[in-house]
Amino acid sequence: MSNIWISTKAKLRAWEPRDWEAQLSWRDDTSGERADSHVPFPVSVPATKADVEAMALRKPDGDNFEWIISDLDGNAVGCIGSHNCQRTNGTFEMGFFVSPEHRRKGYAREAILLLVRFMFNERRYQKANADAYSYNEASLKLLESLGLQIEGRSRRMQFSNGAHHDLVRFGITIEEFRIAHADWLKANASPLYPWSALLLATYYPAYDQPRIRFVS
Ligand SMILES: CC(C)(COP(=O)(O)OP(=O)(O)OC[C@H]1O[C@@H](n2cnc3c(N)ncnc32)[C@H](O)[C@@H]1OP(=O)(O)O)[C@@H](O)C(=O)NCCC(=O)NCCS
Repeated sequence: MSNIWISTKAKLRAWEPRDWEAQLSWRDDTSGERADSHVPFPVSVPATKADVEAMALRKPDGDNFEWIISDLDGNAVGCIGSHNCQRTNGTFEMGFFVSPEHRRKGYAREAILLLVRFMFNERRYQKANADAYSYNEASLKLLESLGLQIEGRSRRMQFSNGAHHDLVRFGITIEEFRIAHADWLKANASPLYPWSALLLATYYPAYDQPRIRFVS
């Protein structure tokens, strides 16, 4: 069996009602919430349970969706979402959060690779974008390390912690992604079916090489 939502290190899965405790603890990380978007008002246990219950029942809105990032045992370590998905243009944005105690273990990296591969290979997108506030060193470095390029800077886009902050826009095309992550794509390949992979490898040995898809 193969599952495109699982890499050698992490999984993307739907929200489950049991994730309320994780969500409650993420809301306590106000500096992480600020870096993600804004500092929220405190939320009670019943309200968090209701929010997470609603998340678990939520259907995708077009290709906009929110996933839980989990370890290989299914324990929630963070979340990631696809936003502003524009099918005609083939562009989408992503936002992500990893629980403080799970940071610097590669979970955001794996989650982004799984999400981008899905959007490019299964939903026919061709460009992934992400924004990071100018003070968000972790996110700036993460996006840079994944090969996303800085495409612009919008000035004074967030007011937080008593000041206005700029927003840095990053992006990566499908061609850049397939070249930058050829090793990861190979290590986490998900064949159509085992027998068709065997046939393809026999008659078309280059089938698993990164391919450039031309978009007219
Ligand atoms: C940004 C964030 C998602 C990173 O998650 P993470 O799981 O810790 O990131 P990874 O472990 O996958 O890091 C991959 C690479 O990104 C870079 N990176 C990540 N965190 C970093 C930090 N604090 N300082 C410098 N570089 C960092 C490193 O190059 C790292 O590779 P390395 O650990 O081998 O050096 C996490 O810090 C977070 O949730 N922050 C709060 C919310 C937020 O900022 N969301 C993003 C909004 S745009």
